[in-house]
Amino acid sequence: MDFGEWIYFLSECTGISTSRILIGDFNIKSLQKAIGILFKYPKGYPYQYILRKSVFYGREFYVDERVMIPRSDTERLVDIVLPYLRDGFYVLDLCAGSGVIGITLKLLFPGITVFLSDISREALKVAEINVKKFGIDANIIACDLLKCFKRRFDIIVSNPPYIPEDMLGRYDRRLFYEPRISLVGGRYGYEITKKLIEEARLALKEGGYLFIESDPMHFHIFPKNAKFIDRFVILRF
Ligand SMILES: C[S@@+](CC[C@H](N)C(=O)[O-])C[C@H]1O[C@@H](n2cnc3c(N)ncnc32)[C@H](O)[C@@H]1O
Repeated sequence: MDFGEWIYFLSECTGISTSRILIGDFNIKSLQKAIGILFKYPKGYPYQYILRKSVFYGREFYVDERVMIPRSDTERLVDIVLPYLRDGFYVLDLCAGSGVIGITLKLLFPGITVFLSDISREALKVAEINVKKFGIDANIIACDLLKCFKRRFDIIVSNPPYIPEDMLGRYDRRLFYEPRISLVGGRYGYEITKKLIEEARLALKEGGYLFIESDPMHFHIFPKNAKFIDRFVILRF
């Protein structure tokens, strides 16, 4: 945890504003209590799991150990998809986890019909909490990638797991606490993404788009017509 995260965490646990903590204007007992809670957790345990919330695109989403903590990098994926949305479009957030991508798109563009899908039923329970929290309509479906869908969607957006199996230990320690299924994309990391691209052809309507977050090291697996923007890929089918 960096200094900013510590201050934020203490503020959330004590109800004392971050500015009051920074100038030392607080009751020492409440601060001690918060520090006590903090030390109950092993080093590296994500504070988002302690607080049961994580900010994505300016909104507080519910998270717990059943889902990966949304990354701020992924907010860019929302920005990339937004200009492609039209009223009446069917949009699937595949590998939805906590549902942050699909829910944010629906909140920004209410005219779409949103589907949230994930192989993990536990993750989808978290997505459901967020759907209720933000009061949106969304279809929640448990599925292994796109096997359950045929020619249904105008847009599929996905942040699939893409870390190679043996790289997990080399990343941030926080990753040890997140569900392995949300992180590891196979031996080389790109296996799930590759399958997803193959299956997208059948799940998208003709002319539909697939937007994926990926690792630039995996860009060689994408078809020739792919467009790359930083770590994001756009494919038209
Ligand atoms: C990197 S997390 C992304 C979560 C969320 N979309 C986000 O950006 O914060 C990947 C998600 O893919 C799900 N997943 C892994 N394998 C899958 C599969 N074969 N089919 C569908 N979902 C899968 C995991 O359960 C996890 O929730």
